[in-house]
Amino acid sequence: MKTNDYLDLELKYGAHNYHPLPVVLSRGEGIYVWDVEGKKYYDFLSAYSAVNQGHCHPKIIKALTDQANQLTLTSRAFHNDILGPYEKFITEFFGYDKVLPMNTGVEGGETANKLARKWGYIKKGIPKNKARIIFVNGNFWGRTLAAISSSDDPSSYKGFGPYMPGYDLIPYNDLDALENELKDPNVCAFMVEPIQGEAGVIVPDDGYLKGVREICDKYNVLFIADEVQTGIARTGKMLACDHENVKPDILILGKALSGGVFPVSVALANDDVMMCIKPGEHGSTYGGNPLGCKVAMAALEVVRDENLCKNAENLGQKFRDELSSFSHSLIKEVRGKGLLNAIEVNDSPDSETAWNICLELKENGLLAKPTHGNIIRFAPPLVITEDELMDCTEIIKKTFNSYNV
Ligand SMILES: Cc1ncc(COP(=O)(O)O)c(C=O)c1O
Repeated sequence: MKTNDYLDLELKYGAHNYHPLPVVLSRGEGIYVWDVEGKKYYDFLSAYSAVNQGHCHPKIIKALTDQANQLTLTSRAFHNDILGPYEKFITEFFGYDKVLPMNTGVEGGETANKLARKWGYIKKGIPKNKARIIFVNGNFWGRTLAAISSSDDPSSYKGFGPYMPGYDLIPYNDLDALENELKDPNVCAFMVEPIQGEAGVIVPDDGYLKGVREICDKYNVLFIADEVQTGIARTGKMLACDHENVKPDILILGKALSGGVFPVSVALANDDVMMCIKPGEHGSTYGGNPLGCKVAMAALEVVRDENLCKNAENLGQKFRDELSSFSHSLIKEVRGKGLLNAIEVNDSPDSETAWNICLELKENGLLAKPTHGNIIRFAPPLVITEDELMDCTEIIKKTFNSYNV
């Protein structure tokens, strides 16, 4: 079968809930993927930052296959011999008392929201059903009804009401607006991405996260950091919050926690918060399964042992330096942190320009995808080398130069 045959199958038999680039991939290794015709590409999306460790990292795949031959799932009706060691490993790794294991990023977010509400009622004394959680404009944390209830993006929420009550939005990067909301004693939490990924790699001012921490402390409100996209070395530190040395009360991780091999997510918190949830009040059949736990430990070890934070920090700077000094009428801005970067295309968000540039990049051997119309996110696996990265910046420049305005 050829590319078009696969596209036809998806068109006919799959729900039309995505708009992928017309490329059908059948193999991945490190920073490269190959399509069904054998063409090789640089992967500059990394499955939305899930494949930070590179495709099919041998150490992670070994953990997967070894454990797959041993025991894959028990559910939490019984204990398994990997969960406890994993819980010890990950809580020590990130410095929290406890972990609640789930599968997808959005489930990590749901878990954090439920923990915060419970804590609000039990510890903060918020009257029944009055707990509020504050979010920011442009947030993205997935596709469940709770997640879209806090979204201001019509393509996420439109047509899916009624929405979850108790969610309110303030502008991103605005500490005055945050303080204003947090004065309400019914607010139990503020949930935020340290850098907004889906919104187009929006980096807040230096000091924003520190300010968030201080205001949350002042008003006894939980600070929930959604590091599903920014975490696990993507921005040049293990967590994006580490750039400002702040520790959230609830940390949500997913995606690269398993290196793109298996859906694994977590909510991490200290006992004061985590012990508010009692047996039977939350969970998931696959959450904490031995396969996912083994994979996640291997994935974190790879990030640590291969110094991926340093590589992301160094090469991210080089990437931005290289592209910031390249002036082109279609480039409005180059921005990002570590290896989470974006080019904002100088055209209207409704235009096809960014999409067409991505098609051209694909022809030139590099896969990237627009987000929010005119923004192209560039997030390669963090195992990329400087030479490879420079080759990629050449491809990007060549593509912009050849693009007919
Ligand atoms: C910041 C953030 N949170 C949560 C999610 C949801 O993760 P998942 O798609 O695994 O549910 C995403 C997905 O892109 C994300 O970027």
